[in-house]
Amino acid sequence: SQRITELVNCPQLELIPVIDSTNQHLLNQIGQLPCGAVCLAEYQQAGRGRRGRQWQSPFGSNLYLSTYWRLEAGVAAAMGLSLVVGVAIAETLQQLGAPDIRVKWPNDLYYHDKKLAGILVEMTGKAGDAAHLVIGMGLNIAMPIVATTMIDQAWTNLSAACVSLPSRNVLAATLIDRIHQTLKEYEDIGLSGFVERWNKIDNFLNRPVKLLIGERVIEGIARGINEQGALLLDTNGDITAYVGGEISLRGC
Ligand code: ATP
Ligand code: BTN
Repeated sequence: SQRITELVNCPQLELIPVIDSTNQHLLNQIGQLPCGAVCLAEYQQAGRGRRGRQWQSPFGSNLYLSTYWRLEAGVAAAMGLSLVVGVAIAETLQQLGAPDIRVKWPNDLYYHDKKLAGILVEMTGKAGDAAHLVIGMGLNIAMPIVATTMIDQAWTNLSAACVSLPSRNVLAATLIDRIHQTLKEYEDIGLSGFVERWNKIDNFLNRPVKLLIGERVIEGIARGINEQGALLLDTNGDITAYVGGEISLRGC
């Protein structure tokens, strides 16, 4: 298949066999990276999700990729970025032959009610300055079974979702281009341009869910997101908007 360097269009591309975390690798280089720099690894020894959770990243045919982006509008404008990137990834995978890909608030991609991919946005930057963002994506394509005993929720592979799986290089290059395009679009139009697109592919829209907020569990019907990227939960007809990184959503 074609080499990724011939397919991708970005200012810097690093292909690494083994790394702790592609996100950490780029965070370590902030200040020296051009906007849009990308790093891809075959294997992560310390792949991570939100709040210190692990991202299982075995050697094989999955994708572990991160990109650096400088957001002039600052850290406050970065809220909602995982939603926007989720739309970019889902729409790309749909166009590449996996029509049933969905998003789950706030940072996951789902296929048939199982977790397929996760997005991790990390950032540095002082209030009033540009934000330095590292956006990471882990996408399961064909997980080796030995690595999956560590995953404590339903998960799946892109190979199950695609009639005909594109090559990994085509997948990576198309995703990188779309993520960059979408970040530019987000700089121009903000989150409001994505709310309808996100809600259209929401895995849990109008379905019963529970929100885990620390020790609290709140049940209701998911009603998509609002213009701020908050999750809308319907409890007996009352709609409450939930924001913030400490909340996890689960299907009932
Ligand atoms: P939230 O809904 O709050 O995002 P989450 O449980 O999905 O909650 P994340 O931090 O998004 O948490 O993702 C990390 C979690 O994803 C892990 O705790 C594990 O349950 C699951 N996980 C880890 N590796 C994989 C993988 N390769 N594929 C699918 N799921 C994984
Ligand atoms: C999540 O579901 O919480 C997000 C998982 C993000 C995993 C990716 S893999 C590439 C990048 N490097 C990391 O250490 N994490 C992200």
